[in-house]
Amino acid sequence: MPVALGDRSYPIHIGSGLLGWLGSEIARHTKATRAAVVTVPAVGRRYAGTLLRSLREAGLEARKIAVRDGDAHKNLREAGRLYEALVDFGADRASVVVALGGGTVGDLAGFAAATFLRGLPLVQVPTTLLAMVDASVGGKVGVNLPRGKNLVGAFHQPRLVGIDVDTLVSLPVRQRAAGLAEVVKAGLLRDAVFFERIERDAEKLLRLERDALLPVIERACAIKAEIVAEDERESGRRMLLNLGHTLGHAIEALARYRGILHGEAVAMGIAFAARRSEALGLCPRGVAGRVEGLLGRMGLPTDLPRYPRRAYLSALRVDKKRREARIQFVALRGIGRAELVPLTPAEILPAGG
Ligand SMILES: NC(=O)c1ccc[n+]([C@@H]2O[C@H](COP(=O)([O-])OP(=O)(O)OC[C@H]3O[C@@H](n4cnc5c(N)ncnc54)[C@H](O)[C@@H]3O)[C@@H](O)[C@H]2O)c1
Ligand SMILES: [Zn+2]
Repeated sequence: MPVALGDRSYPIHIGSGLLGWLGSEIARHTKATRAAVVTVPAVGRRYAGTLLRSLREAGLEARKIAVRDGDAHKNLREAGRLYEALVDFGADRASVVVALGGGTVGDLAGFAAATFLRGLPLVQVPTTLLAMVDASVGGKVGVNLPRGKNLVGAFHQPRLVGIDVDTLVSLPVRQRAAGLAEVVKAGLLRDAVFFERIERDAEKLLRLERDALLPVIERACAIKAEIVAEDERESGRRMLLNLGHTLGHAIEALARYRGILHGEAVAMGIAFAARRSEALGLCPRGVAGRVEGLLGRMGLPTDLPRYPRRAYLSALRVDKKRREARIQFVALRGIGRAELVPLTPAEILPAGG
């Protein structure tokens, strides 16, 4: 599947057994002679061997570089370590950075690729469902600061995205569900028929049944790719992808990025956005119930954690998507249709609401 971005266009390959032949594809798309495979131990242990072998068979010098696991380590300190490892490897302009792992690895390795030597080619090889349908597509890379998520970053499109669905077998069910939150988001944004398909197949998707899963990954990627192609640098439409993320990011920051998965925070944010849209009269009654019902079947949380309102308000004010005092809140107009509505934090979270 292509992502259409003019001279920065790139293909997304989706399939089974992909890691075994991705090396030659990477060689063809980047012309690199060296590949740094950046990964975390839990993923590298299982999948780096196959990928390194296929890179070497394609004639590249390949090395695995391990970074620390978890969103709490997606920061400047870890990026600094990664730069050092790239220097040790002798990475130069003829080198490619291959991010093998979830969105955390993709964002961190992507950020290093965007900045090391003012930019090295990047290949995304996502191994979580969330990274497959969302984080690996679109070119946003970055790290967190203590005061907020993804506050430092860049746009750096990959040369290629390689999605091997076989890697999902080792992914814990809680992580699968978290990825499905972004799939639900894609359906809500622009495809009611796709949303119905997710409703029909929710349990099969959690069990990774191939026939249900492949088309869903494909469609979710396509929706993300379409929206990115319409607005690569997030001046307008791309902000729709923040559905559920305004509150989601606030929840993650309030939890200090611990104990809660990104997709779970997004699920709460999506459910909140649906309820709020309904309360504001922006979408028909019943939409919020349907959204909550689906997320609930996936084992995802739909109620906001109980932090004081003023904590939420100050977290919302740090969000970088702030424009003047208003935030472009992504509201639902129905299943498959969303719209940006500029609201102040206090309007998003009215007192006693
Ligand atoms: N750049 C973007 O556009 C974008 C979009 C959405 C999310 N994100 C970012 O992505 C991050 C979240 O990504 P995530 O949900 O993939 O989490 P993650 O990368 O932290 O991975 C979750 C856990 O699963 C493990 N894991 C990964 N693949 C596995 C596999 N195949 N088998 C077993 N274990 C595996 C990891 O080691 C990790 O412990 C956040 O930092 C978020 O900000 C970025
Ligand atoms: Zn997200």
